[in-house]
Amino acid sequence: MYFKFFIVFSINFYLFIYSTSANNNLSNYEIVNFAIPLSLTSLEGDPDNGRNIVISREGNCLACHIVPNISDKFQGNIGPSLAGVGNRYTIGELRLRLVDPYVISPTTLMPAFYKNKGLIRVDEKYIGKSILTAQQIEDVISWLITLKIN
Ligand code: HEC
Repeated sequence: MYFKFFIVFSINFYLFIYSTSANNNLSNYEIVNFAIPLSLTSLEGDPDNGRNIVISREGNCLACHIVPNISDKFQGNIGPSLAGVGNRYTIGELRLRLVDPYVISPTTLMPAFYKNKGLIRVDEKYIGKSILTAQQIEDVISWLITLKIN
């Protein structure tokens, strides 16, 4: 149990230290029925870029999730597999899950990727910054929504 917490803490710490894309001017958004229905940006998401963010260190999602059709041997199982998330959620629900999952589940181990306040144990350099930019969030969502199981 302690070991698992140590791993999760290390991953979060790593995410905050190494996120090169951190930014501090966050867009405003409205939460409606556990979803953020409107895009954070005016540009459409780019699914190819989204996939790259998910499987690279930028998102570091593989640390906790199994992602379909990726050959990386080191995929985590702290979170559920992302296979079929495109069936399970709407775009707006996926957006809230990435932006601020604590709204849905205050004790979740899933990091908030677009939040810069109310976080704990943030390295000084990253105080006031989010892990991903608004456009990166939209890119990731546009790829996640394609993960459907027929
Ligand atoms: C530190 C571990 C961790 C990291 C890193 C992480 N997640 Fe998660 N994620 C979780 C956990 C745990 C859950 C389960 C949510 C809960 O606690 O209710 C989850 C849930 C989700 C869900 C909802 C899945 C479902 O079937 O309900 C999505 C979508 C998701 N994560 C996407 C991502 C993406 C995309 C990234 C990378 C940008 C990411 N996660 C990074 C731990 C993580």
